[in-house]
Amino acid sequence: MKAIRYTRYGSPDVLELQDADIPEIGDNEVLVRVQAASVNPYDMHFMRGTPYVVRVGGGLRRPRVTALGQDMAGQVEAVGKAVTAFKPGDEVYGQSTGSFAEYVSVPQDKMIRIKPANLTFEQAAAVAVAGTTALQAVLDKARVKDGDRVLVNGASGGVGTFAVQIAKALGGVVTGVCSTRNVEMAGSIGADHVIDYTKDDFTRTGERYDVLIDVAGGRKVAELRRILAPKAVAVGVGGPDNGNWIGPLSGMAKLPLRSPFVSQRLIAMFTGQRPNDLAILSELMESGKVTPVIDRAYSLGDVPEAMRYLETGHARAKIVITI
Ligand SMILES: NC(=O)c1ccc[n+]([C@@H]2O[C@H](COP(=O)([O-])OP(=O)(O)OC[C@H]3O[C@@H](n4cnc5c(N)ncnc54)[C@H](OP(=O)(O)O)[C@@H]3O)[C@@H](O)[C@H]2O)c1
Repeated sequence: MKAIRYTRYGSPDVLELQDADIPEIGDNEVLVRVQAASVNPYDMHFMRGTPYVVRVGGGLRRPRVTALGQDMAGQVEAVGKAVTAFKPGDEVYGQSTGSFAEYVSVPQDKMIRIKPANLTFEQAAAVAVAGTTALQAVLDKARVKDGDRVLVNGASGGVGTFAVQIAKALGGVVTGVCSTRNVEMAGSIGADHVIDYTKDDFTRTGERYDVLIDVAGGRKVAELRRILAPKAVAVGVGGPDNGNWIGPLSGMAKLPLRSPFVSQRLIAMFTGQRPNDLAILSELMESGKVTPVIDRAYSLGDVPEAMRYLETGHARAKIVITI
């Protein structure tokens, strides 16, 4: 099969389209013929080996796993002896390391789910990492409920476009923050109000919110607290890459450090791989409450180009790889 491989950390130039063996499946595993994948900052961090903290598990000097990519959608090609939940021909989506390839294997009880019939493979491939991150931030951490005033800082990116829609689905009154070129898109996915950060500072509008989902990061805790109601929840999801050791984590970590001393709940979150989250997202997508937003599609050989675009920090919604 064709697959993206890399043997050293670096820029997208380290990524090569190579011939590789089709993964062998164990008794409990499903072999998926990948139709589409999508790129995430997670892949970028493992490609670069920065922040250095990723090297703890990923390989100190060079990548321990030479395959890249997490998000995928495709057709089941074969199943192991003990697999009961899937059969060849099923259309599925989910997450598995090495998804920038023609085939991946996934344990049947991990991040794999039947693809909602109303989604294309490209749309389904956009869901796993960004969708579960947004779900865990909005539902589990912030517990958004009917009528909550929710601000999503970074509303136009991969995570942000899911967060806006999930918060709306839970009954939130949502304000999205993005740049001028994305204002219309943020409104079209359901944001009730949109703040253009190139014109207005969202921390100085005088408005207060019950929930802040901070995907873009980069602001001081004191600035963020200006917009929080007394019992609000702020969830730090991401942020600018400040330095090479812990990258965006340095900004996010300030939230829980401050939390014990203030009336609001200030949280930094790390996405966990929870198969049930895909079940919840499938329901939201089948009902039309959440629709993945695709910016551009690239071919498998153009993964380096897709990564270069992601590296700008200004990709709109999700970037998919069509295989
Ligand atoms: N905590 C976790 O476990 C976890 C999981 C997944 C992702 N993340 C992190 O979450 C962050 C976002 O991920 P993503 O997949 O959404 O990335 P992405 O798709 O690359 O996000 C790009 C978006 O960020 C927006 N943006 C850039 N600067 C901004 C600013 N100053 N204010 C508001 N918006 C701004 C851009 O909008 P404009 O072009 O309009 O500026 C663009 O739409 C990353 O830092 C990622 O590492 C964390």
